[in-house]
Amino acid sequence: MSSSVPNPDAATTSPRVRLAEPGRAYQPAVAPGEQLARQVVFEAHHVDIHYGPKLAVADVNMDIYRNIATALIGPSGCGKSTFLRCLNRMNDPIPGFKLGGEIRYFGHDLYGATANRVEVRRRIGMVFQRPNPFPKSIYDNVAWAPRNLGMKQDLDARVEKALRQAALWDEVKDRLRQSALGLSGGQQQRLCIARAIAIEPDVVLLDEPASALDPIATASIEDLIHQLKLQYTIVIVTHNMQQAMRVADRTAFFSLDQNRTGTLIEYDDTQKLFSKPTDTRTRDYISGQFG
Ligand SMILES: Nc1ncnc2c1ncn2[C@@H]1O[C@H](COP(=O)(O)OP(=O)(O)OP(=O)(O)O)[C@@H](O)[C@H]1O
Ligand SMILES: [Mg+2]
Repeated sequence: MSSSVPNPDAATTSPRVRLAEPGRAYQPAVAPGEQLARQVVFEAHHVDIHYGPKLAVADVNMDIYRNIATALIGPSGCGKSTFLRCLNRMNDPIPGFKLGGEIRYFGHDLYGATANRVEVRRRIGMVFQRPNPFPKSIYDNVAWAPRNLGMKQDLDARVEKALRQAALWDEVKDRLRQSALGLSGGQQQRLCIARAIAIEPDVVLLDEPASALDPIATASIEDLIHQLKLQYTIVIVTHNMQQAMRVADRTAFFSLDQNRTGTLIEYDDTQKLFSKPTDTRTRDYISGQFG
């Protein structure tokens, strides 16, 4: 490797991933744990997000850390999903979408001229509010992205591993060839998580992943998030403050300013944000006086 190219494997405090090189797997230099707990994955600098003329989110500055779960909370319309989707360039196809400022991913400009969108999606997976399995078998859902990316070796083992990590294996191992649409809502959502992690991304983004589920299925998704963050960096949007307290190590509270533009109000360790918020707007929101 040339000396001008940063070697992610050599860096323990500031890993670099070349987004412009598809297929080059990023391997953490050390096991997840204390040392990685506060490595920065995303740095948002003065991020403004427009949909056409509408400024949806203004001037977000935040670092998102590795191998922990970060929750985005706040009232409807404050831009939680918009900001989350910017982290893997999911908003790019929306007409009028424009991002100002900068989002860096392991130090690389996510929206820079050399960033490769396919590679961005490969490293940063996403799970949506409503479970959206493909009308295919359970196996083919999980094998879909690995197949698309040419990861065909040991596919059975890869599918099994993803389903185990998503805490679904025992429930589906005898019916892998049956349609995913026959699963319950909670199982479908865990299948979507298995589908997202089958290609072993660095980050999993979850947009209200449990809001369409019953309390038991919700609890299993929350348990799963605790497991997943040992290996992945998790960013989760939730409307449920108890859920943020249960699953997230850090929480960012967004709100709407007088122009109905989304603004990041406060961002801190979850326990601190909920027990000793510094901003009155956070205090009002978490005490139920707003939103
Ligand atoms: N595809 C889009 N085109 C135009 N405007 C959009 C689009 N998606 C979101 N917006 C606008 O951006 C703002 C933020 O919306 P967003 O969906 O990110 O909020 P949210 O915090 O996720 O809300 P909710 O809690 O209801 O999901 C809103 O004013 C919304 O109308
Ligand atoms: Mg949303």
